[in-house]
Amino acid sequence: MHIAVVNGPNLNLLGVREPGRYGKLTLDAIEASVRARARELGAEISWLQSNHEGELVEAIQALRARADGALVNAAAYTHTSIAIRDAVLAAAVPFVEVHLTNIWGREEERRKSLLADLAVGVVAGFGAQSYLLGLEGIVAWLKTQQSAGD
Ligand code: DQA
Repeated sequence: MHIAVVNGPNLNLLGVREPGRYGKLTLDAIEASVRARARELGAEISWLQSNHEGELVEAIQALRARADGALVNAAAYTHTSIAIRDAVLAAAVPFVEVHLTNIWGREEERRKSLLADLAVGVVAGFGAQSYLLGLEGIVAWLKTQQSAGD
């Protein structure tokens, strides 16, 4: 089972960026914990972070027929990018939207997600744990789908 993890702009600065809000863990540390949990769950992870909308669009397009599932933290593009929404629709890969913070408890402009209605589910507000909860969620969901198809 291949799960792709897609991270949007400014997430490369985790650990130094507003640590009171986003936590002290770096993105590398989150990646290591996601990879460790994925090994236990029997899943394989590919990991990407980009600050560029076009790069994210291309990376998401490339997941089509290659990934079984995805975790997507599109960061600020969550709230603004129809291009990323269209790429997610084109890729047709089931995904969980993840956020470190509870976007619905924040400023008005962050309370809207252009991806959430396309997601299998959304995990927001648990800091780095959101990624692990999202991973558990998508793996369990994919296993249920597989056994329903057997
Ligand atoms: C974020 C929430 C976004 O609003 C913000 O722009 C981010 C991070 C989160 O993980 O909480 O960069 O996606």
